Amino acid sequence: MSQDDSKKPTATGMQKGLTSYGDQGFSLFLRKAFIKGAGFTDKALDRPVIGIANTGSAYNPCHGNAPQLIEAVKRGVMLAGGLPMDFPTISVHESFAAPTSMYLRNLMSMDTEEMIRAQPMDAVVLIGGCDKTVPAQLMGAASAGIPAIQLITGSMLTGSHRGERVGACTDCRRYWAKFRADEIDAEEVAAVNNQLVASVGTCSVMGTASTMACIAEALGMTVPGGASPPAVTADRIRVAEETGARAVQMAHDRLTIDKILTPDAFENAMRVLLAIGGSTNGIVHLAAIAGRVGLDIDLHALDRMGRETPVLLDLKPSGQHYMEDFHHAGGMATLLRELKPLLKLNAMTVTGRTLGEELAAAGPGFKQDVVRPFDQPIYPQGGIAVLHGNLAPGGAIIKQSAADPKLMEHEGRAVVFENAQDLAARIDAPDLDVNADDILVLKNIGPKGAPGMPEAGYIPIPMKLARAGVKDMVRISDGRMSGTGYGTIVLHVTPEAAIGGPFAQVRSGDRIRLSVKNREISLLVSDQELAQRSRDNVIVEPTAKRGYLKLFLQTVTQADQGVDFDFLRAPDTHGKTPKN
Ligand code: FES
Repeated sequence: MSQDDSKKPTATGMQKGLTSYGDQGFSLFLRKAFIKGAGFTDKALDRPVIGIANTGSAYNPCHGNAPQLIEAVKRGVMLAGGLPMDFPTISVHESFAAPTSMYLRNLMSMDTEEMIRAQPMDAVVLIGGCDKTVPAQLMGAASAGIPAIQLITGSMLTGSHRGERVGACTDCRRYWAKFRADEIDAEEVAAVNNQLVASVGTCSVMGTASTMACIAEALGMTVPGGASPPAVTADRIRVAEETGARAVQMAHDRLTIDKILTPDAFENAMRVLLAIGGSTNGIVHLAAIAGRVGLDIDLHALDRMGRETPVLLDLKPSGQHYMEDFHHAGGMATLLRELKPLLKLNAMTVTGRTLGEELAAAGPGFKQDVVRPFDQPIYPQGGIAVLHGNLAPGGAIIKQSAADPKLMEHEGRAVVFENAQDLAARIDAPDLDVNADDILVLKNIGPKGAPGMPEAGYIPIPMKLARAGVKDMVRISDGRMSGTGYGTIVLHVTPEAAIGGPFAQVRSGDRIRLSVKNREISLLVSDQELAQRSRDNVIVEPTAKRGYLKLFLQTVTQADQGVDFDFLRAPDTHGKTPKN
């Protein structure tokens, strides 16, 4: 190899992205000397390099199979003639991230992007699964721009409690609600705690992790069938091997991520989000990923799509099954077959073939009861509806498929909690002035307010009402909700209370109208009164003196822009998606 090889603009493999010593030939010489210290030969180092983002962590049981997946990816890479190089990045687990995993998603995306840029690799395999990890990786890879392929860790197995099948985390919430309502005792709640997570892997219902797995496949970012195999199965390991081999071919073909993350791909992902009754977090993450490639999500168009896209997937929390059942029913191919007339079939995928070609290759379906036929949906419209009105000029959303139909047209008196601390202090107070017809409002849990837009929008039913048998109430916040939650819950109110706007000015006793039919969320207070309140109650935005929190508070965007940092979005916006 000549000294000049490293200067070629098309540098590949170990010659890519040389460290700046002022002498590129020396930089490559030094790099190879060091890696040979690990026992590599020149023959190995001449191969295309496939980076493998390792997000295994003792704090992340959703990624507990990372060692087995890495081994299988490496096998696939080697079989296809590449050189696998795994490297660590941040790993974020829902229950082990304070104040909330969303606060760290953008940091993980920066870590992923910069490690892809900094280290020599011709393609990258992204191993992710737990809620924020897949969007973080797709955001980072979209900005880095090289060929990238997503490998989902896979869902956990379901457990069994006293003869009843259980799985995280819809059943976690259900059993906890029973405990709060005195329907089960401390002994039983401790017993079910052992059964809710029966193996490593991601939550077994259609929560955010499963949603993002399906979205990743719908975007064309996984191998076909990559969304559904559970974490501990042979199918998952085979997907990993196939992913490694595919990454080598993507490197050869220069199948860069911008060729896959197109407006058509995002439209397909939104279709799937609606049809699976997916997590409301999916919209935020899609907006963030789209923003990295210069696209804005059009919430009005998304809502129009929702009116013509039924929920077909019968999984908890909207339905009754679990992810492993979806896999046994044929996984995403079964769903996509039903949605075929609504899909953009020409969208490119990581296989180098279009979604339509992959669907054709998947062959015919078979009899199963997890994915409904298009004309026999479990819910006639898409799972998510987009709301507008003077309470949320920038929009809000509701997961209508998980809401109580009786509450979707409702007017009631607001019972306001100013922030999460206020909620914790008063929600269970015996003297709380609240009735079942009231509307619970929680402010200051948005992107800047909490900060990090925690999944605190699942406001608990006040203890005294829960004990009286109340199961659902209309609840409104500027925060998010876990995809495993359910109820008549309005989320992502934009703008959030912490930066001012009408939501900051809601007071207990105000009347609020929710009409999902009309896509309306209105504060029944006059414009003049709201303007007066804004003058009397000037909002001071939160700030911080140092560190990541300072960066976060200065640059985080609202929900409609994916809660990404403004400087991480693509500098130019090319348009909106979906286009219709
Ligand atoms: Fe990781 Fe649910 S906690 S997917």
